[in-house]
Amino acid sequence: MTTRKKLVAGNWKMNGGLAANAELVRGFLPAVTADVEVSVFAPFPYLAQLQGLLEGTAVAFGSQDVSAKASGAYTGEVSVSMLKEFGVRQVIVGHSERRSYHAESSETVALKAVAALEAGLVPLVCVGETLAEREAGQVESVIASQLDPVIAQCARFVQNGQWPLVIAYEPVWAIGTGVTASPEQAQEVHAMIRARLQAMLGESLAQSTRILYGGSVKPGNAQELFSKQDIDGGLIGGAALSSDDFSGIIRAAKG
Ligand code: 13P
Repeated sequence: MTTRKKLVAGNWKMNGGLAANAELVRGFLPAVTADVEVSVFAPFPYLAQLQGLLEGTAVAFGSQDVSAKASGAYTGEVSVSMLKEFGVRQVIVGHSERRSYHAESSETVALKAVAALEAGLVPLVCVGETLAEREAGQVESVIASQLDPVIAQCARFVQNGQWPLVIAYEPVWAIGTGVTASPEQAQEVHAMIRARLQAMLGESLAQSTRILYGGSVKPGNAQELFSKQDIDGGLIGGAALSSDDFSGIIRAAKG
């Protein structure tokens, strides 16, 4: 069986500032070792700062969104080639906050993932159901409706049963609420996502794809979540803004 290296990714959302970012990065860097991959996702204006702060370290960084378009009259958008000029290697696409506040469809999310892959960037594609959808028994159909366009558009980037794409399962009801999916609840959905990848793209791809969990991950619950068979790390919001908490989560991913 493929061994998937754990990835701990910090999504800073619309937080930070020059001084706070520098302090945060300096605070968690000592926890970073070769056995766990770490990346941070900052607001666009701070990517240049991160390029300097993280130079020579093993920590990757990226943006929280990207345009599906290459260039042109798209006011307010940022393209993959612009991100690459600042050393970006990964991008989050389809975060639930973009889906809900900016009406991003799963088709748009899929095109953003394609733009990232075409540019040689790693897309972290977010999926997840709302509480109402969970209570209505729609977890599987919602995840499938978010995932299938991504699989359809991105399948051509699979080579030798692998693609760089990472999936993040972030149940909307667990984001920023302090309510975490139980390790069993998360594992159940992760296994379902992996089974769907296997059915559509084959065993090798399904086994090599990392699936992160996101939603109120803290140092105190990270280890149990990450110990589950199909949970390959975390996408961390609030706790990624504290160097102590983020360090604790990185350490938890070491097992
Ligand atoms: P919290 O960790 O604050 O719940 O946020 C999760 C998230 O949305 C990461 O992208």
